[in-house]
Amino acid sequence: MGFSDKVFKTLYRAGSRLLLGSGDNADWIHEKVQRPGNVLALARNMACYYLQLPLIPEIFNLTIEPVFGCNLRCRYCFCWGESAPELTGLRPDLMPWPLFRKAIDEAPNSLEAVTFVGMGEPLLHPRFSEMADYCADRGLRSIVYTNGTLLTGGVLERLAASRLSVLTVSVEADAEASREFRGVDNAVIRRNLERFIELKRPETEVKLSIVAHEKNADRFENARREWGALVTNVKANPRMGYEGSGSPPVCMEPWRGNVLVLTDGQVSPCCLDCKPDLVIGNLNEQSLGEILQGDAFHELIQRIISGNAPDRCVKCSEFSATGLPRKAPKRKPRRSG
Ligand SMILES: C[S@@+](CC[C@H](N)C(=O)[O-])C[C@H]1O[C@@H](n2cnc3c(N)ncnc32)[C@H](O)[C@@H]1O
Ligand code: SF4
Ligand code: SF4
Repeated sequence: MGFSDKVFKTLYRAGSRLLLGSGDNADWIHEKVQRPGNVLALARNMACYYLQLPLIPEIFNLTIEPVFGCNLRCRYCFCWGESAPELTGLRPDLMPWPLFRKAIDEAPNSLEAVTFVGMGEPLLHPRFSEMADYCADRGLRSIVYTNGTLLTGGVLERLAASRLSVLTVSVEADAEASREFRGVDNAVIRRNLERFIELKRPETEVKLSIVAHEKNADRFENARREWGALVTNVKANPRMGYEGSGSPPVCMEPWRGNVLVLTDGQVSPCCLDCKPDLVIGNLNEQSLGEILQGDAFHELIQRIISGNAPDRCVKCSEFSATGLPRKAPKRKPRRSG
């Protein structure tokens, strides 16, 4: 790690402690924001969130949904789990290649990373490793979240040979929780991951992400013991749900410097917007620049800061426990209306 990376990570650790309640999210922020100009822009975004200013945030990361649909049914999944809304058939299963290229080609100069996630399993996309290489050709880092079950055979070999920057495997705290909540055998995921690590390029980092919830929060150390030597980071990701109630929150999410592009081109400033309910445009009809500067984004931000956030946000809930970082902190609006 270079000197500037160490400085930024130290800064992010302090910022994460202050804004998210724990320093543990420093790595998560650093994988998306590394350019010095963007570090300042991120600080500006955060100041706008705190001061509740109706300014359109700067974008550093594009979240792409390459696949809408999944081979698993994790119990707590906000898109395919037990309490998720019915999503079947809402949009195409796969993001078409021309739409993917349009999103990347129209990205603003501030963009430095692309995260492949959304409401499905990215490795189901037949051209996924090409997507990672397309990002690398344009000087963008690529990050993927996967359940690890499809990391075998040709998919594994092509991805290991690609210029993917970060592979994040979503797992559970231990083998028992893995069977109970994700319906998978930890030993299989581990074998797949070990094979990927053998074959991958040295530059590709491997990390883990664990959803923290009521039933596993006390078992995180099991995961660190079991997987810690294989990966560079184990991220705790608080469970998000639909149990919220009360007054409309001002949520940090739209100021984080990230927008989500779904398989049908709809764009939302929230990574959890599975239906979606917070649409600010469609890439099949507008350029990304028009969407990011457009009235719909502005109006959404205005609604949020004036205490009139959409119902989706009012229902949004987040699991919290001592020492666990927040994912999407929320504040009360300055004025309610
Ligand atoms: C929706 S999944 C899509 C990518 C891939 N299928 C996977 O599981 O990694 C993206 C991430 O959200 C996490 N996740 C699922 N349900 C969640 C919830 N209710 N709250 C917070 N994160 C959740 C998953 O564990 C995964 O790390
Ligand atoms: S693997 Fe990912 S998308 Fe699929 S159900 Fe589990 S968390 Fe949801
Ligand atoms: S409140 Fe929930 S749904 Fe609304 S922007 Fe924040 S994270 Fe997204």
